[in-house]
Amino acid sequence: MEFNEPAGQNIFDRATIVGKPHQRIEGPLKVTGTAPYAYERHDVVAGQLVGYPVGSTIAKGRITSIDASVARSAPGVVAVVTTLEIDPLPLGFLNVARLFGGNEVQHYHQAIAVVVAETLEQARAAAALVKVTYEQEKADFDLDAAFERLQGTGKPSTDVGDFDTAFANAPVTLDEMYRTPSHSHAMMEPHASIVDWSDGDRLTVWTSNQMINWNRGSLATTFGLDKEKVRVESPYVGGGFGGKLWLRADEVLAALGSRAARRPVKLALPRPFMMNNTTHRSATVQRIRLGATKDGKLTAIGHEVASHTLPGGRGEDATAQTPYFYAGANRRIIHHLVDMNLPESSDMRAPGEASGLMALEIAMDEMAEKLGIDPVRFRILNDTQLNPSDPKVPFSERHFVECLERGAEAFGWTNRNKTPGRKRDGTWLIGHGMAGAYRGGPTLDSGARVRLNAGRLVVETDMTDIGTGSYTIIAQTAAETMGLPMDAVEVRLGNSAYPVASGSGGQFGAASSTAGVYAACLALQRQIAKRLDVENPRFENGHVRAGNTVVSLAQVSADQELVAEDTMTFGDFKKSLLLATFGAHFVEVGVHAGTGEVRVRRMVAVCDAGRILNPVTARSQVIGGMAMGVGAALSEELATDLGRGFFVNHDLASYEVAVHADIPHQEVIFLDTTDASSTPLKAKGVGELGLCGVAAAVANAAYNATGIRVRDYPITLDKMIERLPAV
Ligand code: MOS
Repeated sequence: MEFNEPAGQNIFDRATIVGKPHQRIEGPLKVTGTAPYAYERHDVVAGQLVGYPVGSTIAKGRITSIDASVARSAPGVVAVVTTLEIDPLPLGFLNVARLFGGNEVQHYHQAIAVVVAETLEQARAAAALVKVTYEQEKADFDLDAAFERLQGTGKPSTDVGDFDTAFANAPVTLDEMYRTPSHSHAMMEPHASIVDWSDGDRLTVWTSNQMINWNRGSLATTFGLDKEKVRVESPYVGGGFGGKLWLRADEVLAALGSRAARRPVKLALPRPFMMNNTTHRSATVQRIRLGATKDGKLTAIGHEVASHTLPGGRGEDATAQTPYFYAGANRRIIHHLVDMNLPESSDMRAPGEASGLMALEIAMDEMAEKLGIDPVRFRILNDTQLNPSDPKVPFSERHFVECLERGAEAFGWTNRNKTPGRKRDGTWLIGHGMAGAYRGGPTLDSGARVRLNAGRLVVETDMTDIGTGSYTIIAQTAAETMGLPMDAVEVRLGNSAYPVASGSGGQFGAASSTAGVYAACLALQRQIAKRLDVENPRFENGHVRAGNTVVSLAQVSADQELVAEDTMTFGDFKKSLLLATFGAHFVEVGVHAGTGEVRVRRMVAVCDAGRILNPVTARSQVIGGMAMGVGAALSEELATDLGRGFFVNHDLASYEVAVHADIPHQEVIFLDTTDASSTPLKAKGVGELGLCGVAAAVANAAYNATGIRVRDYPITLDKMIERLPAV
């Protein structure tokens, strides 16, 4: 089914299940420890061995020898596979770093061998016995130096109007540098897989991955197999945040280990290995220039960014929001994607916008202060309903001003501290800050199959649930469409035997996958109508009604299971519109007057993302994003060893994420909006929007508390303590 024009009035406008709060349906499995995560699937295949990786200890160069003889004869060892024994493996979909094979080292902790043994302890002990020699090459890890070198060069991605003249002539200007460090996804569940390649022909993988079909295709490419011979299951994912979009070393090593040992192998990447072996969000260096009239209209917007990646990689385009977010006739935007020999940079929750708004929304705060205009008002003044970089293109829906106004009211913005460094609560300096949020609202084609049997509906799709609530919103969509109660619907996800869905990424999952389930349900409705020989049937209260016909769905499917399948595709009409999501964040912090420690005291978020499919699971996404934003503001940083080229703090003890105790109070408000151009459900995603802008709101609040402007994240004590106001 193609969605080829904006949706009119439909069943979701009078929904009784979609849009209503529902606890997540797989919740009981999770809280009782019975949801099977990849590493715990002890019963899917017998005779599982355990694999353990060996990682490179240099960042760039060649391996000259690997001596695995001692490891091979260690107790319990069944097989050792080294990278020198096999040819470089072809790269899977959007894989950039070589995952295995050959002698070239591209980054620190690249996987170079796998040891397979009867137990984890035996595999780990033997892995430590593998001896490797290298020929090290000179490498580059310095992003600041790269920005210096590249500044002012290259082709802008957006060059509208005449930025140079507008900036030179602007009565009020800002020109500042901002830095964000590399970030780790730091999901709770590590990359983990059980792989059975023992018969050499069929490859079966139980893993933790956001994108089943990409993963299946990548496995087929990497190992030269027919895609039909590859089976992937990933029904539960303990967090991904973009780190599990791609094929990674856990699957590759377990597969090679399984082929060598002729038994299934399970392998989880050890946490201290994950940070350098898998992907991360690149650091950014950002120069922002803003020009405005005295009454607060932006006339010039310049954003120049450098981020790093391995050759061919994705980096972190922190300019992502800058073409679209604020009005302004003249703008120039450029992203320097710099090849470096650090581990592979790739997508992490709101790739681009997350770090871009960390800078841009501080710049907006600084500019508002220069202008003497309230920062909420300044953003309202520069709102736009058209794409400012291409004014022929309108936003499908944009309610940013309402986000700002609702948030200001809920937070009590008018009572905020107005003079930096003036408000105290005992030994704490109190500050208030806010920021805007922007993130795209994309959709991807998404399919599903539905089975109706004796009045019970089973939904099958290779969509994943990465903690986001997919199971629940898919059940809601199917129940609503078929006129069934929630408990008559069972949802099966994350299996390559099911129709290809959008998967979970880019905050496209919720909107896309529910649209696909809707399409499949409509196909089932057509089948039922044909079976009953009726026209214009309505599906309500477990029955199908048409004219004088009233038949229960149990009866319709009593003698035979009815199966229907369809894929929602999205038409070209979307190209003439800009679909995005918007938000506003308000934060109160306390900064300790003696130490400079920043503590969040309360947060309010307002989101405009079209129809909210389930306020419980959507809120959970947004409060999680807000906590992640506090981490980005105050503590998260992959510290780079500029000599050796690796992330030093590669574990969860020293890579510090925000936790519950760091966030005393959060409020989330969803605007009651719909976006008819998005999908028939008129919904867009919120999973990434919830992170966007948060860190800048915290930074702006910390400035408001102290008068100290930190433009180099994270805002740690050392950046505050020397400059604190006298007690
Ligand atoms: Mo997202 S960074 O596309 O999982």
